[in-house]
Amino acid sequence: MGDGPRRRRASRAQSTRVLLDYTGCTAERVGRSGLTSVEIRRGCRAADRGMRRLRRALEAGRYGFDEILDDRRLQSASVREGRRLARLADVLVVNGIGGSALGPLAIETALCSRRRLAVLDNIDPEGVAAVLSSLEPRRTAVNAITKSGSTAETMANLLVLLEWMERSLGPRHVRHWAATTDPCKGDLLAIARRLGIPTLPIPENVGGRFSVLSPVGLLPAAFLGVDVAALIEGARLMRRHCWSAPPEKNVGVIGAVVLFLLATKRRRNIQVLMSYSDALVHLVGWYCQLWAESLGKRVDRRGRLVETGQTPVAALGATDQHSQVQLYMEGPHDKVVTFLEVRAFRRDVRIPRLHDDLSSTGYLGGRTLGELILAERKATETALTAAGRPNLSYILPAVSAHVLGQLFYLFEFQTALAGELYDIDAFDQPGVEAGKIATYALMGRTGFEARAVELRRDARLPRAIV
Ligand code: PA5
Repeated sequence: MGDGPRRRRASRAQSTRVLLDYTGCTAERVGRSGLTSVEIRRGCRAADRGMRRLRRALEAGRYGFDEILDDRRLQSASVREGRRLARLADVLVVNGIGGSALGPLAIETALCSRRRLAVLDNIDPEGVAAVLSSLEPRRTAVNAITKSGSTAETMANLLVLLEWMERSLGPRHVRHWAATTDPCKGDLLAIARRLGIPTLPIPENVGGRFSVLSPVGLLPAAFLGVDVAALIEGARLMRRHCWSAPPEKNVGVIGAVVLFLLATKRRRNIQVLMSYSDALVHLVGWYCQLWAESLGKRVDRRGRLVETGQTPVAALGATDQHSQVQLYMEGPHDKVVTFLEVRAFRRDVRIPRLHDDLSSTGYLGGRTLGELILAERKATETALTAAGRPNLSYILPAVSAHVLGQLFYLFEFQTALAGELYDIDAFDQPGVEAGKIATYALMGRTGFEARAVELRRDARLPRAIV
């Protein structure tokens, strides 16, 4: 191919690619709380070594979040199953929790559609009862999602849903079901086989919070009528960028390096992720899980006590400018603020020219809400920078399936690379497992008797209750 078409393609990709502006993290702009160019250069060299380790692990098949983008058969199967359920139902209940729920929710909120999801992740009895009473079983489908096939919350809600669906629809209710789980093991798989519920696999090397681009996210996306091909194409575009752009021009590398250095060298232990788009509120929730559960680790790979991690906090602009931002601007120097800016909204609202003789309305009339929210984000960024508070901005051309796919891959890559920089295992979750085991023990699950004895002993210790 000649240089012309290649350059045109590169510039088209550039114009639709998510960009990262990290000016507000540099020492030139925010003084001592910012990073020097020498530190960033050194960080990029460490990231380069980290990427080589990550590449080897991906090639050895230890982590599957990358290769899953090439599994077209799995993508087609997810789309077929999502569309089959869409012919039967207007609402898809997502029966899953954590990594099995946050991705589908992020997709639904970003790419709203005629159909909807009802995410049954929690087990608050009032919440579950309210969801069920809002649904019409004949126009409802259920996708049970659990990688382990045994998580207490998901299995409890599964039983509730099985009985609720069967009561209304009789034995044919199984047509309204799909199950997404490990292809070889777990009790969800056993139940699905017993009942004849179609199953989709979550590959063994794809963990919950890295599974949004597997059937976990793709089936619900197809149910909603989302352009799954565009979602995957966006993720692939970002994958090409993250693995080929030079470190200092690489969104994934710079994001990981800057956040890692701010946490470890400038004690920025909190990352506030502030979206200036309602459509991205649940993407922020998905990101918070990914960042927290992957990087919050007690020991490093050599078993040394490190207690790493950066606490993610969700914020929404412009709303939180009138609550949390005061703290970010003047409180402890322990935060970095990450903005999500959307350049073009899918719809805009014109502000009418009314009462234009008054100063608080005169300047607004004739502008749009889109212009106002962009100005507010810029204003917050500028004020934080002037106050010496590090901040960075992801710039999204728009909210679309393609951009969402980019963000999913970008943040997965960035998290995995940050794990390399911290030298911890970003893909396990012993803290979460400890909670699951204690729940099984407290609820009398077979195989957890020894833990139950310990917990009963703990329960007899004096308590400090006032
Ligand atoms: O990222 C993870 O591994 C966890 O958040 C899991 O997704 C969550 O605990 C649910 O697990 P499972 O899918 O096995 O039910």
